[in-house]
Amino acid sequence: MIRLEKITKTYQTATGPLQALNSIDVHIQKGVIFGFIGFSGAGKSTLLRSINLLERPDSGSVFIDNEDIAKLPKKELLQRREKIGMIFQHYNLLLNSTVYKNVAFPLEIMRIKKPEIEKRVMKSLEIVDLPEKTDDYPAKLSGGQKQRVAIARAITTEPKILLCDEVTSALDPQTTGTILDYLKKVNKELGITIVLVTHEMEVARTVCDYVGVLENGYLVETLNMTENAVNTPQSKIGRFLFGNGEGI
Ligand SMILES: Nc1ncnc2c1ncn2[C@@H]1O[C@H](COP(=O)(O)OP(=O)(O)OP(=O)(O)O)[C@@H](O)[C@H]1O
Ligand SMILES: [Mg+2]
Repeated sequence: MIRLEKITKTYQTATGPLQALNSIDVHIQKGVIFGFIGFSGAGKSTLLRSINLLERPDSGSVFIDNEDIAKLPKKELLQRREKIGMIFQHYNLLLNSTVYKNVAFPLEIMRIKKPEIEKRVMKSLEIVDLPEKTDDYPAKLSGGQKQRVAIARAITTEPKILLCDEVTSALDPQTTGTILDYLKKVNKELGITIVLVTHEMEVARTVCDYVGVLENGYLVETLNMTENAVNTPQSKIGRFLFGNGEGI
């Protein structure tokens, strides 16, 4: 469903060029939860943002359902992006808008009619168990509730893919568990393919079917986390994920 081929990205910095991604090849199958794990600066966010071309790679191709979206004209790219939701570490909610307005926002941009917006907003809020919060402002919500609103906003456009950038990093372990449960629910019940990036081993272990290990802009290995999969991890992070590393 998602195929990245030879994705390379170099940033120009004050101290010279910095290669954030080095010829990344990866295939993410429909319906899975695929995680990328790595330390700060490994290139996780850059890679995630290249899936919807918020970050344009210097070279390489991004295929979504066999279509190279890097080759599309702007208008068509924007249309394809409507089918790729995204959530972030700090929720990115509109603070001066109610929960309802936040979730309705992407649909208003798509010029969807009001009754349909209402239907979709309520359906999305029900999935994250927050239908009673429609009139509240984000300031009144806990971190976990804010992230649930962000999930509702992301799924309201009925995306095929959901990109998640460190979406539990600002949350305590218990709330992290709750958010991961909602991500699993969205994956299973709505059939949305999820790509997430995290530096938290526990997150990768709890929800991911596959984990790609990123180190300094290189994808060093991809591990199958599904039950009974046989892996012989080569990287330190990989060995740690399977509980046979000495710690990192
Ligand atoms: N806009 C930019 N300009 C210059 N350098 C950048 C830019 N964005 C990212 N980088 C650099 O590219 C590298 C990869 O960054 P990226 O944000 O993808 O890492 P990350 O794995 O998401 O890190 P973190 O866990 O801290 O979020 C880092 O060295 C970063 O400093
Ligand atoms: Mg990042």
